[in-house]
Amino acid sequence: MPWLVVPAAGQGRRMGADRPKQYLSLGGAPVLARTLERLHLAFPRARLCLCLDPEDSRFDPAWVPFADWRRVAGGAERVDSVANALEAIAGHAADGEPVLVHDVARPCVTVDDLRRLHAAVVEDAVGALLAAPVADTMKRDDGAGRVRGTESRAGLWHALTPQGFAYGLLRRALAEAAQCGVAVTDEASAVEALGMAPRLVSARRDNLKITHPEDLPLAELILAAQAD
Ligand code: C5P
Repeated sequence: MPWLVVPAAGQGRRMGADRPKQYLSLGGAPVLARTLERLHLAFPRARLCLCLDPEDSRFDPAWVPFADWRRVAGGAERVDSVANALEAIAGHAADGEPVLVHDVARPCVTVDDLRRLHAAVVEDAVGALLAAPVADTMKRDDGAGRVRGTESRAGLWHALTPQGFAYGLLRRALAEAAQCGVAVTDEASAVEALGMAPRLVSARRDNLKITHPEDLPLAELILAAQAD
């Protein structure tokens, strides 16, 4: 069973809601509860590290289905939240143990994709991430609202989560990225900065990250369709 790290300390300001997006209702339960439910279905005996804003007063531990879990203080950025989680489990996680990091804002990830990603992480020393090939034509802007050019989408992927790496490797990658000032918006980019090439695990495109207001009804439809 992997370690699970779920960064859930964001404010989700792009949603423009009265509360962080992990506490918005998705089919009658908070997004956070839905996401943890999916993770638990795939990995019922995993150990969980949940990163929450220390000031967060909305969180209810009853939403956590795992027997073995801990709450960790989130940091200023997502990467800081993940680094705090890794530090919190030092001495508990062995260097070679797989750690899967999954955004709380992705409740539609399927059990099948979660298990395929875990299998890839177990067999690949570099680690892996769920990803989906880019389908749209990609434009680059000129900084003034006009098209400067069209980028080739061949070989381009959307990086999704979970992303999984051996505990020791991920800790080293995040520490070195912080030291060198490398911008890290996902775990894979920190590992890439070490000169390594994480494996792309082709995933369902409906593993959307709830970010904007229109994403919430879309996520409801996806969950309903997946239940059919
Ligand atoms: O805002 P965005 O959707 O990019 O955040 C991705 C994930 O990182 C979310 O699950 C969010 O709660 C988490 N996060 C965090 N700590 C921060 C910022 C974001 O745990 N400081």
